[in-house]
This record gives sequence, C-alpha cells and structure tokens, in this order.
Amino acid sequence: MVALNHGVQLPDIKPQTPVAALDRSAWLSREEMFSIAEVAPLVGMAPTFIAKVLGRRGHLTVQDVLTLLDQDAFSETFLPRSKVLDYLTADREASAVDHQTTAAHLLIEGNVTEALDLLEPGSVQCVVTSTPYWGLRIYKDSKLVQWADGEECAYGHEQTPEGFVRHSVQILFQLRNVLAEDGSIWWNIMDSYNTRTQIRGNAAEALRAMQGKDSKSWADHAARRYSAGHSYLKDGELSMIPVQIAQRASRIGLFVKSLITWAKTSSMPEPQNSRVSRGSEFVIHLTKTRTPKFDREAYRRVTPALGGRNVGYESDKLADVWVLPTSSGKNGHGAQFPTALPGRCIALSTAPNDLVLDPFVGSGNSGVAARALGRRFIGIDVSPQYIGIAETAISSVPQSGFAAATNASTHQDLPMTGEL
Ligand SMILES: C[S@@+](CC[C@H](N)C(=O)[O-])C[C@H]1O[C@@H](n2cnc3c(N)ncnc32)[C@H](O)[C@@H]1O
Repeated sequence: MVALNHGVQLPDIKPQTPVAALDRSAWLSREEMFSIAEVAPLVGMAPTFIAKVLGRRGHLTVQDVLTLLDQDAFSETFLPRSKVLDYLTADREASAVDHQTTAAHLLIEGNVTEALDLLEPGSVQCVVTSTPYWGLRIYKDSKLVQWADGEECAYGHEQTPEGFVRHSVQILFQLRNVLAEDGSIWWNIMDSYNTRTQIRGNAAEALRAMQGKDSKSWADHAARRYSAGHSYLKDGELSMIPVQIAQRASRIGLFVKSLITWAKTSSMPEPQNSRVSRGSEFVIHLTKTRTPKFDREAYRRVTPALGGRNVGYESDKLADVWVLPTSSGKNGHGAQFPTALPGRCIALSTAPNDLVLDPFVGSGNSGVAARALGRRFIGIDVSPQYIGIAETAISSVPQSGFAAATNASTHQDLPMTGEL
C-alpha cells in the first residue's frame, strides 16, 4: 500500500471476483416502472429485441426486467446481473467540481464520472481520449471512484480486467448521453497481460527495470499486481480488454464503426521468449448512428503533426492501420499520445468550432490539436498537476479564428448544465 499525494491508499491488485447472484425475492413486491430505452443499455439488448422478448412495447415493470435478466441473450454491460435493478431504482445526483477556464476551452479538475454529469446532453461533437491502462501505471493524484458495479477503486486499478471493462463501459454510457447524434467517440486503449508485475509510474521507469537498473525489491514498490486467483485467465495471458470494451459499447447502443490499430513507429522493448512484442494500441471508433459526421478528405488536407497522412509510412488510402509516432513525453506526463492521433480523429469527425471533449486530458495533447484545428474543447482530469500542464500547453497554441467568430470567451459559452 502507498499513500499518494492527497492520501489515497493504492492497494496491490490481487484478482478477486465477487461471489454474488441476483436475489429475486428482494424485488418481487416492487412496483417501479421503466422505459425500454432506459433498460436496453443495462441488459445489453436492442429495444426492438426487448419488445420481441416481452411481446409488447411501452413501459416495463420490475418483473419484466427480471424476465430480461433470465434471457439467454442477456449480456453484462457495465453492471453485473445482480446490480441492474439497484441501478435502475437509485437516485443519482451530479456533484460540483473545480474548474479552470480560458477563451474557448475549459479544463475541469475532477473525477470523470462526476464531471460528465455537468455537460449538456448532446453537446459534444467528438470525444477523443486515451484512458488509463489496466493495472500498468500509477498516476499522480489517483482518486477512489465508487463504481455502479459496487467496486471502489481508482480507474485502471481494478482487481480484475473485467472490472476495468465494466468501468470503461460505464464511462462510455455517460459519454453517449453528451454526444451529438452525428458525433464520434475515439477510444484509445492498449491491452494488458494478466501477469505478476510491479505497477510503475511511467514507461521510462518500466524500461529502466527491464535494463536491470531498478534497485527496488518487489516489496519496495508502491503497488504490485498478482495474477493468481483470476476466475479464468492464466498467468501471462492477454486479457483482451479492447475487444471486450468494443463489444459492450455495442450492447449499450453505440455503433462500433472501426477497431483501428495504431502501429507505433517505436515501442517499448519486451524481453519475452514465448511471444511476439507489442508494437500497437487500439483506437475504437464509436458513434450513435450509421452515418456520423465524417470528413475523409481531412486525411489529405491537414498537416501530419495534426494527423494528416504520415508520408513514407502511410498510403494515400485512409485505412484502419494508422502508423503514427509515439509521444516524446517531455512535459511530465508518463502516458501521452502524440498530437497527431487526436488531431486525426478530430479532423475526421468535426467541423471548425465544433466541441471536442477529452475526459482523460492528461498533458493536454487533444486540446492542443483541437485548438490548432479551430475547435472548442473541454478536458477533464483528476490530477490538478496534469490540469496545470494541459492549461499551459493548450494556451500556448496560437488561437485560430474560431474564438473571435463565436465570442466564446468564458465558460458560460461552453455547454454546461451542472453546478460549477
Ligand atoms: C493515459 S493518461 C491520458 C494521457 C493524455 N492522452 C496525454 O496525451 O497526455 C490517463 C489520464 O487519466 C487521468 N485519470 C485517471 N483516473 C481518472 C478519473 N477517475 N477521472 C478523471 N481523470 C482520470 C490520469 O490523471 C491521466 O492523466
């Protein structure tokens, strides 16, 4: 265990799957009613399929929801079966978060699940983000989050990869609400192996360890991850996190447009004798509709630094393998993506002055790209230090014409509904 800056205890990760089941007797006398639209993303079924199962449309009773939970077609999204009715009947309130503003961009310091409740439904044209990896990094200022599945942990520090998948899909469920009908979500994520390992602050620390330059013993590390005890994954097995997130995103009603491979021009060495090294990450492109706003020509039009074609590595055809460099990581954040990555996503799926959101803004590369491309931007991060780094980085980009055109000079011009 280690105390982080503001006292959060970050425990070791030791795979634990709760032994839990739905208690039907607790629900039999309840009389609440729900809409099909409300229930569909929680049971992982399309509204049309629910109508087929129940033989009618209209509102659903608690008994109807129990019937859906018994279907062979039921599939967990972000709530285990035993927690779906608790979630449907709970009162949820948004809470206030600290924030900083400057012209046409807004940075919110706070936990993502609370901060997203402050945004106006349907206001965001493009979400582009790279989330924490599961069980790989200790971020500064980690904060415990109370998740809908009952687990309380920092995001990325779940006891199992399944917990991380559920929490990622819970955030996607909230993002679906703030996304415009023709908007896009670009979700950058790398998989994790189920291995016994020390959890480190950044890639450079991990590299030093591989070179034998880590003098700390196993016990000296801030947090460790164990692999034994998982309900099915073997030691050393790939967890398959990105495809599970994509599959469940579809179950909550999003449209999986592409599973893009980001082929990195350089990557960490991995001294493994039993498998190939990893040189890629994924970008899951999710939308609300089959035909989102999409400007394919932007690939040829914008500069490579902002995601245009990486000449010499990429062909003229925009395909689902993106060959982009890794970030130099110079400004104090250990897990950055290169500006070209969010730049490409933003250029492809927005127009000037549209609103871009990064719920894990880190060092602010997505905001830098958004501002350079003339888009409005909201970034969220739990770390005050990263919010400061992002503010400096974004503010230093020469402002495009959009701010003057929209007179977006204060946060009131950005679509917030909650208390700030
Ligand atoms: C992979 S990094 C993002 C890096 C960013 N794309 C960049 O280029 O710098 C993930 C970020 O998520 C933030 N984070 C972790 N848990 C969070 C939470 N519950 N709410 C908001 N931000 C969180 C971390 O502080 C970290 O900066």
